[in-house]
Amino acid sequence: MSTTTTLITGIGSLVTNDPGQGAGPLGLLTDAAVVVDGGTVAWVGPAAQAPAADERFDAGGRALLPGFVDSHAHLVFAGDRTAEFNARMSGQAYSAGGIRTTVAATRAASDAELEANLARFVREAVRQGTTTIECKSGYGLTVEDEARALRIAAGYTPETTYLGAHVVAPEYAEDPAGYVELVTGEMLDACAPHARWVDVFCEKGAFDGDQARAVLTAGIEKGLTPRVHANQLTYGPGVQLAVELGAASADHCTHLTDEDVAALAGSATVATLLPGAEFSTRAEYPSGRRLLDAGAVVALSTDCNPGSSFTSSMAFCIAVAVREMGMTPDEAVWAATAGGARALRRSDVGTVTVGARADLLLLEAPSHVHLAYRPGVPLTAAVWRAGVREV
Ligand code: NIG
Ligand code: FE
Repeated sequence: MSTTTTLITGIGSLVTNDPGQGAGPLGLLTDAAVVVDGGTVAWVGPAAQAPAADERFDAGGRALLPGFVDSHAHLVFAGDRTAEFNARMSGQAYSAGGIRTTVAATRAASDAELEANLARFVREAVRQGTTTIECKSGYGLTVEDEARALRIAAGYTPETTYLGAHVVAPEYAEDPAGYVELVTGEMLDACAPHARWVDVFCEKGAFDGDQARAVLTAGIEKGLTPRVHANQLTYGPGVQLAVELGAASADHCTHLTDEDVAALAGSATVATLLPGAEFSTRAEYPSGRRLLDAGAVVALSTDCNPGSSFTSSMAFCIAVAVREMGMTPDEAVWAATAGGARALRRSDVGTVTVGARADLLLLEAPSHVHLAYRPGVPLTAAVWRAGVREV
């Protein structure tokens, strides 16, 4: 079957994330071109040497990079928590308990409403350059509501995560052990067919280390791969548990001991930082610098959810990571693309290399540095997902 080839030329600055292909860890090329064949990248190199193609797109000297890989989001929900955010910005503290507000609204919503919300958020993310997005359950907390969240999510992304252990369901407030039994038993059986990952909110007010271990090991036995909400609000066992169980990522990593940092650095578990959560809960940011200096792999993600981080903007996360978390623009852009791909154990996204999926973001700017340099400015000029022009 023959496919259409497209030559994207006139790329002022190209982030390949392949150090073998260009300068630095971003594998930067200037005056570059890319050939897309169907859904994949077929050629990358200097514009002057580019082969002919069926169609031609002139980037006009602007920057091209891999589409963002947002490896942590909670997008199947109904309602919002404007009042809670407003109260918090007037001095109230954030607590894990707020999740139950969204649980009530989500349970009351129809499948069609939940799907319409999800489709709207995915579209919103694509418009901002996100071409891969992970999506968790966790606002249903019954067997049926968790399973339907994942069923709906699976229609939009293969990166679906079972988060029945987001918080103890209200019906089990007096019997958390009973809820863990449900999450590791009947609920897991109903959800596993629609999920790739298993996650747990290991935190004071949510699940302790022993409960988290039970949830993750049950998921592993069902063929799911673990990732963990770890060390967000307090120090705790989440990061060590994630590393011990070979989790793909430990997410948040806001409160880390030196031992936690060393454990991450010595492992294949990616430290996924979620600056939107600290921004929206007015909390202290995690130090990307400390993790990178220790040798850990860092990803950046939105944590898009109605409670603690209602942003779908990876560019915003990059800007905050650079300004507040000690990361350079290059490190932050890598973390939002290749880092996210590592956190999802994907080798087909997060780079612009031959054979990679043609997920591309063209910026209305001459350099990827503008993502941090021009905070809050809509810089998306064009987006291709698997070779298809989406924006
Ligand atoms: O990642 N930490 C747990 N889950 C979300 C918060 C969800 C909520 O408050 O609704 C998070 O921050
Ligand atoms: Fe989260």
